[in-house]
Amino acid sequence: MPQVFAQMREALSHAGPPLWSPPMVRFENVGMRYGPGPEVLRDVTFALEAGSFTFLTGPSGAGKTTLLKLMYLGEPPSRGLITLFGHDLATAKRAQFPAIRRRIGVVFQDFRLLPHLTAYENVALPLRITGIAEGDYKQDVEELLAWVGLGGRMKALPATLSGGEQQRVAIARAVVGRPDLLIADEPTGNVDPDIGDRLIRLFAELNRLGTTVLIATHDRALLERVKAREMRLVDGRLVELGMANR
Ligand SMILES: Nc1ncnc2c1ncn2[C@@H]1O[C@H](COP(=O)(O)OP(=O)(O)O)[C@@H](O)[C@H]1O
Ligand SMILES: [Mg+2]
Repeated sequence: MPQVFAQMREALSHAGPPLWSPPMVRFENVGMRYGPGPEVLRDVTFALEAGSFTFLTGPSGAGKTTLLKLMYLGEPPSRGLITLFGHDLATAKRAQFPAIRRRIGVVFQDFRLLPHLTAYENVALPLRITGIAEGDYKQDVEELLAWVGLGGRMKALPATLSGGEQQRVAIARAVVGRPDLLIADEPTGNVDPDIGDRLIRLFAELNRLGTTVLIATHDRALLERVKAREMRLVDGRLVELGMANR
């Protein structure tokens, strides 16, 4: 594991568990439609407890990406209540949104890397914009890129990377700031099984350090690697499947 996580674990081992904490994320009767179309999410109700690890599964078109989009404040829901870190999004001031977003790491299905920045610079960006000096994050960024198998491609621009490589840069960027909540959309959709194995270990490690993790996937092999809750979307409705990999 990258050294950055070893240090974090050491710090946490002295902290002791919290006595009680409210859910990180709560959806209540959430509905979503795009324009005048039909609802693609219907009466979606669930909570993600702090420190939990959850898979969101379901066939293509079921609404997984839409659900994640609502969770990272990409769009407001058509109806229903969403609470993030205790903030009711309907009543939170828009000025609070950037601070809420900074607590969330997102791996987009289409990566969304900045094309004019190198792999290293893309991963460093979330740290750079919070004003951290490069000397304080350089090693973290390099270790993470090496962990995801891109130690030799740090100076490459996204256009020169394969889809699987771009996906790994996107994952490194999402986890480098050790977010409170990690949301990943089909994060192993473009990589070989051995790399997929490394990525899932990275997510599991981040989770052990306290990050709440939600991964949308239709890769059943991924579910076998981590003991985690599975929520399934079918036609925009949520079906709770309990623990995967029992
Ligand atoms: N921007 C959009 N505008 C209109 N319809 C959309 C948009 N994004 C998704 N949809 C529709 O919403 C439904 C759910 O899509 P999506 O959330 O991408 O599902 P999944 O990620 O499970 O494949 C699909 O019917 C899709 O066509
Ligand atoms: Mg999707």
